[in-house]
Parts: sequence; C-alpha cells; structure tokens
Amino acid sequence: MSEMTGTPIPHAPGFIANETPRIVTARFDHEDSHTLERYEATDGYQALRKALQRTPEEVHSEVRDATLLGRGGAGFPAGVKWGFCPPGVWPRYLVVNGDESEPGTYKDRLLMELDPHQLIEGCLIACYAVGLSQCFLYIRGEMAVAQERVAKALNDAYDAGYIGKNILGSEFSVDIVLHWGAGAYVVGEETALIESLEGNRGMPRLKPPYFPASIGLYGQPTIVNNVETLSNLPWIVQHGAAAFTAIGTESSPGTRMVAVSGHVKRPGVYEIVNGTTTFRDLLYGADMCGGIRDDHELKAFVPGGGSAPWFTPAQLDLPFEASQVGPQGSMLGSGAIMVMDETTDIPAAALTLTKFYAHESCGKCVPCREGGTWLEQILRRVVEGRGTPRDLELLIEVGETICPGDFPHAAVPSEGIEAVPFPYRMTTICFVGPSAFAPIHSALTLFREEFEAKVAGNEHPTMIEVAVDV
Ligand SMILES: Cc1cc2nc3c(=O)[nH]c(=O)nc-3n(C[C@H](O)[C@H](O)[C@H](O)COP(=O)(O)O)c2cc1C
Ligand code: SF4
Repeated sequence: MSEMTGTPIPHAPGFIANETPRIVTARFDHEDSHTLERYEATDGYQALRKALQRTPEEVHSEVRDATLLGRGGAGFPAGVKWGFCPPGVWPRYLVVNGDESEPGTYKDRLLMELDPHQLIEGCLIACYAVGLSQCFLYIRGEMAVAQERVAKALNDAYDAGYIGKNILGSEFSVDIVLHWGAGAYVVGEETALIESLEGNRGMPRLKPPYFPASIGLYGQPTIVNNVETLSNLPWIVQHGAAAFTAIGTESSPGTRMVAVSGHVKRPGVYEIVNGTTTFRDLLYGADMCGGIRDDHELKAFVPGGGSAPWFTPAQLDLPFEASQVGPQGSMLGSGAIMVMDETTDIPAAALTLTKFYAHESCGKCVPCREGGTWLEQILRRVVEGRGTPRDLELLIEVGETICPGDFPHAAVPSEGIEAVPFPYRMTTICFVGPSAFAPIHSALTLFREEFEAKVAGNEHPTMIEVAVDV
C-alpha cells in the first residue's frame, strides 16, 4: 500500500486515496492542484490539443467506444446521449450539472474545488465533439469554494487562450458561462436546471421530450452532463477508449467516485474501480472505509444516494455494477453510500430522509407536494411514539398515491400490479416524489418490527394529533 493510501489528505478534505488507478483524482495529491500552473505541469490541456487535431466525429466515437456512463445518477452513456442532438439544428448548448444536492453526495464538489481545469478541459472536449457553441456551468449555491476556484480557473483559461475565439489557433470557438444556483435540490434534475438557467422557477418540465438533447435550453438542443462525467474526458482522449475499458467491466468501465458517510471508520470520497469493487471492499477494505465504527455490526446501507432503496449485509458482495444492483431492487444513483450500524433507530433514519424530500418538493405535482408532507407528518408521530398501528398502513397508502404498486402490507392490493416494482412507477413528473417514499418503503419492509414497537399500545390517536398532523 502506498504512503498516500487509506489516509486523508489535509489540503483535500473529504478525499481518501486508495490502491485504485486514479483517473479523475490523480492531481488531488498536489496542494496546488486547482491552479493552471499545476494543471499544465501535469499534462493539462494536452487532451484538448490532441482532440483539435482530430475531427469532432472521431472524438465523439472515442467517447462512445469508452462507454462512459453518466455519473449524475441515471448512468446513461455519454457518447450515446450526445448522438441524440437532431442533425443540422444550431446553436446547441452544453449544460454542466454541478448542483450536487442528493443526500450523502459530495464528490462533484471535490472535483470542482480541487481540479477545476480538468472539468473545463472536459467541457471543451464535449463542445468540440458535439458542435456545442456555448457552455453553461451551473454550480450549487452553497459551494462557495468551488465557485471561487472554478471562476478563477475560467479566467485563467480564457487568458491562456483555452476558451474563447479560435482556441489554440484553431477554428473552434466556445464560451463558458458560470452560473451560481440558489441551493434547491430539485434543480439538479436537468430540465429544472434548464428552467433555472432561463431565469424561471426551478421546476422540472413535463416529459416527453425525455432528453433535452432534442429540446433544451432556450428551446435548442442541449447536452446536460454531470461534473464527474465531463471530468473523465481529458483522460479518455489522452489515453484512448481501450485504456478506459481495460479498467472495470465491459458494461461499467473506468473508475467512479463514491462518497461514503455514516457509521464507518473512515467516511470520505473514494475513487473506486467500476463494475468490480464490491460494497464489502469499500466498507471494510483496509485502504478504504476500514470497517464499521467501534467494530459494530452493519445494519443497513443506502447504496446510491438518499433516493435509493436500502440494502442490508446480504447485499455486501454486490459490485458497483448497475446490471447487478438493479435486479436486487436498488440503484447506484449518485454514488453516495450511507451506512447505518446496529445502534441506528431505523424509523428515525427514514424520517431524516423523507423530511428532506418533502421539504425539497417544488410543488408542481399534487402527489409529491401533498404526499411528501403527509408521509413526513405520519412518520414523525410514529418516531415520536404518538403513532398507531393504522399509521403504518397509512404510510403505504399515501406512498402508493406517489408510486402505484403493491407494496408489502398495503391495505388495499391493486389488481394486476406486481409487488414492489423498482424503479417505481410514478404519478409525479420527477423522482423527488418517489424519493420521499423510498426510505419508508425500505425501512418498513426490512425492519417492520422497529415500527411496530414504536406504535405498540397506541390504538387511537388523540383528537389533537388528528387535527394537527393530518
Ligand atoms: C431530483 C433529481 C436531482 C438530480 N440532481 C442531480 C445533480 O445534483 N447532479 C447531477 O449531475 N445530476 C442530477 N440529476 C440527474 C440529472 O437529471 C441528469 O440525469 C444528469 O445531470 C445527466 O448527467 P450525466 O448523464 O452525465 O449523468 C438529478 C435528477 C433528479 C431527478
Ligand atoms: S415530483 Fe415533486 S419535485 Fe418533482 S416536479 Fe413534481 S412536485 Fe416538483
């Protein structure tokens, strides 16, 4: 094990190096990793030079061949998505999703703070490959350091001729605009982000169209990509698709960044090998999280951000491979793993997550706006010992108005619908509504006895509780 592995790096708080090949975090060991000087001294902007010597189609093909899966949550291949722009329609835009607000997720912030030029070079490569004439970089409101560093990096890159007109003496010109968000979770959803950029309230758009690549910002074809997705591009162009696919598995190549929080000995952000690293490697590996705090037993973990259904120790040996995690009823999502040890009050943990999603509802769809708040209120009284056994059924009934399906313990099973569908069916425009129910669904299914213990003996709610809570 090298000296850097398994130990936090003081100037990169939150990041912990390990034995994995490092694609997007390679510069994090340098204290000045965010500067143009360091970037240029470590191969920076060489991939852009290389790309400009090839045709846009060749660069696009390289990215398509690399099977670079989107790192924002849905895991859609970037090269394929780029191909959805309708031919001959101009101008086209690139929107960089740096809103990162999914509970437990804090990897994109590190990429923007510690290697902003890598992101900028990735944006330039994407713009060149797809013929995008302007890029909008949207950073979450609260990320002050990321905003400062990306702003400085943009100014330095403009001064050095990497951005602007006739980049590096070529015919290729592009502008990058920095936009600071105001800190709304739902604006991470790509169509809400586009609304926010246009100056409107950040509310998701109705679908179809399913991809802004056909109709996006200002009604034009728009590619929305995540910060980590774009940060992979300089390496892919520099080393080639074959080198990228040689790491990980065929369907999930390369590395990915994961953010671990909760009851492990070493919570932090790790770069891991996609497809082959297992949850056990990550949570118990000596160069990674090092096991559960105080050597407690693991009770449950959330494998892919607060919206993801929970796993138990039974799923520890699953790798970070969507095709294996999906059939087990969850998702890798935004790469955030939240760990709960044996001391966790499960209904209270579910309430923490549900409260977040209820609060973040933009209010556009009734099932999310009303249902999220109802779920929070009912669960709160259960957690506080004021709930009744009927409340446990009520949680499922309200959940089913957001995600229709036959959930375990549902009071009224619906005809012709199979049990516990995942991904959930939705009565809402975006995934925020189902996300308010997901923690309740998981917690009630896996640890029902903890809920029953909280409501035992409370057969009737008082009139005051009925009036106040519902
Ligand atoms: C409620 C909600 C929040 C989201 N938040 C983010 C986010 O903070 N960052 C992100 O990159 N993608 C987020 N996404 C996914 C984006 O809609 C979009 O799929 C992604 O930015 C595409 O980039 P990628 O293909 O490179 O992953 C969110 C989706 C939903 C439904
Ligand atoms: S599901 Fe919720 S957050 Fe998403 S559009 Fe509907 S109301 Fe807004």
